[in-house]
Amino acid sequence: MRVIVTGGAGFLGRLLIQGLQEEGVEDIVAIDVVAAEIPGCRVVQSDLAHDRTLDELLKESPCTIFHLASVVSAGAEADWEHAVDQNIGGMLRLLESCRQSNHLHKVVFASTLAVFGGGTAGGEVGDFVKQTPSGTYGTTKAIGELLINDATRKGHIDGRSARLPTVIVRPGAPNAAASGFASGMFREPLAGIPSVVPVSEETVMVVGSAQNTATGIRMLAEIEGSLLGHDRAVGIPGLSATVSEMLEVLEAVGGPEARALVSLEYDAATDQLVQSWPAQLDDRRGRELGLPADPNLESMVRAYVEMINR
Ligand SMILES: NC(=O)c1ccc[n+]([C@@H]2O[C@H](COP(=O)([O-])OP(=O)(O)OC[C@H]3O[C@@H](n4cnc5c(N)ncnc54)[C@H](O)[C@@H]3O)[C@@H](O)[C@H]2O)c1
Repeated sequence: MRVIVTGGAGFLGRLLIQGLQEEGVEDIVAIDVVAAEIPGCRVVQSDLAHDRTLDELLKESPCTIFHLASVVSAGAEADWEHAVDQNIGGMLRLLESCRQSNHLHKVVFASTLAVFGGGTAGGEVGDFVKQTPSGTYGTTKAIGELLINDATRKGHIDGRSARLPTVIVRPGAPNAAASGFASGMFREPLAGIPSVVPVSEETVMVVGSAQNTATGIRMLAEIEGSLLGHDRAVGIPGLSATVSEMLEVLEAVGGPEARALVSLEYDAATDQLVQSWPAQLDDRRGRELGLPADPNLESMVRAYVEMINR
């Protein structure tokens, strides 16, 4: 079966493609607006929100589409028009291509815990808690989840939404996510470079490793649709950690010299977004569906170190 990964040249897209290849999937097409080379994978450079690239790719047979292409949190907050155009427009175009093809395609949408906010900010959420996002990013993702549910109900697709925690540790350059510091505070000091944390040490975030999250997204595609019911959005297991606990883990992995490279410099705009997200995730539904969970925070950071040293 053909697998299509939108946003395939991004951080999670590349990891997902690697995992699919390790599982033996051969026909993988990555679509990304940026030019990229991905070993063993056909890459199509295209803007999913405006081009009709998917029409052709979906014509031949039923496919699995992992829809990861997105404008992310701080980027969406800075440019509302672009976020709506890309995140909602891109989703509508994708669903339209599926509907117009003669096959029932499986679609796994990368959503986020930022679909929560408002009254649940800083609190605990689970799969069936009402979504009251406090930012444009979360709003576009919540709309995407609803569109996935409706298209599934109509029989246009077999859809699922993976609500991702903040994924650490992102290698390479940061993207426009407000949560980027949660990766930078490990990545940079472990490479001997200073890093700035723009929120207080007491800030709690729900985090997951890149490896566990990519596996969870892949496994969500395999779950029988009837087990998911009408609401296709599932929280990918993650665990809560304060910034101070993250700093302790940094010290455990990289020593006091790595810890000393992190400084706290408050930034109100970043803090406001991060504080609007949930601090606890009731991930029982995801676990009961068989999605994996990271054992602890330190294992997430050690998995990153292992990955970059491979
Ligand atoms: N990384 C996290 O912590 C996290 C947390 C929650 C949700 N998510 C979601 O997971 C997905 C992947 O995240 P990531 O960290 O890999 O992001 P990323 O920024 O590394 O990758 C996203 C990719 O999408 C591409 N893209 C954007 N708009 C496009 C378009 N119109 N057409 C084609 N390609 C386009 C970008 O060029 C980029 O390569 C996103 O949907 C994001 O919202 C990520």
